[in-house]
Amino acid sequence: MSFSKSVYKYCIDTQFNLIYNIDSTTVLRGIFKNLNRNSQFQRLSLIHHIQRTMAATGNKFFVGGNWKLNGTRESIEALVNTYNNGGKFPSSVEVVVAPTALHIGYVQSKMRPDVAMCAQNVSSDSGFGALTGELTADLFKAWGINWTIAGHSERRRRKQIRGLGHDEESNSVAKKTKHALNCGMKVIVCIGETLADREAGTTLNVCFEQLTFIKETISVEEWARIVIAYEPVWAIGTGLSASPEQAQEVHASLRRWLLTNLNSEVASATRIIYGGSVKPTNASALIACPDIDGFLVGGCSLKSDFMEIINCCPPEWDSTARSELGKRAANDIQSIGADGKKSKQ
Ligand code: 13P
Repeated sequence: MSFSKSVYKYCIDTQFNLIYNIDSTTVLRGIFKNLNRNSQFQRLSLIHHIQRTMAATGNKFFVGGNWKLNGTRESIEALVNTYNNGGKFPSSVEVVVAPTALHIGYVQSKMRPDVAMCAQNVSSDSGFGALTGELTADLFKAWGINWTIAGHSERRRRKQIRGLGHDEESNSVAKKTKHALNCGMKVIVCIGETLADREAGTTLNVCFEQLTFIKETISVEEWARIVIAYEPVWAIGTGLSASPEQAQEVHASLRRWLLTNLNSEVASATRIIYGGSVKPTNASALIACPDIDGFLVGGCSLKSDFMEIINCCPPEWDSTARSELGKRAANDIQSIGADGKKSKQ
């Protein structure tokens, strides 16, 4: 374990009873409790260590393309060609795409090998057999699909937005996440607030609640196979991306949630990616944020823009450089309240 990690872990361990189960706003205050409050140096160096550890998430950026319900035979063939002719990807980036279940076998057989396949959804049922119309994780896994998305907002809001069936609820999202993990799959869990939530100041409450269902359903070890996609509903398909500052604030808070509700290993290793109107013109600024570990891309994954977005990721996963970028996050980490707003310093 690195020095920074061991210092950090020590702080977490010694303060565990204090920080466990408390509001994330007070986490750092909790960590600092037994330190000499008059020692500014001690305080700053601990912040630095925490940042270094927090920035060391995973070892690759993660860029997913969600093709949603798109693709004629011709357009899918052309799109696969676009990817295949898209040049070398940085080795620092893990790339997955999620075609429809109808297309996934075809895409899998034609796609370049450095792009993994991902289901857009799996059933909250499991297994095989008398489940007409369902597509279970077991089925995808048997066909060599190792990733799935769970809880995309277009499924969480089917009824509200399209008047169809029912909105997918967080317990169903958690259930299918667990089934997929049981089958050996990895899961991109989507969370995010609506515009009304944001305006009401409940952004983090909504995100934390969605994550809580996952936490209560899967084991601590299984978080190693989870990627969290923060996708503010108001930014999806609207052309209106969250600003890097808005996204970073939420991502930092999500990482603190992982810290307080799971542990420092999960908090530092889980990739938290951003989705919502990501395009070549905003990807570089977003990926420069210390807690943004990649993207889930909709519209732009249907064109060569996707390769440009992948290439916006730095060529190396440089945790030192990312921690430098993250220095300014220290105050943010301490000042964001559960309502997602910064308190006055
Ligand atoms: P857009 O990139 O089209 O906004 O879609 C984002 C998304 O929903 C990815 O899952």
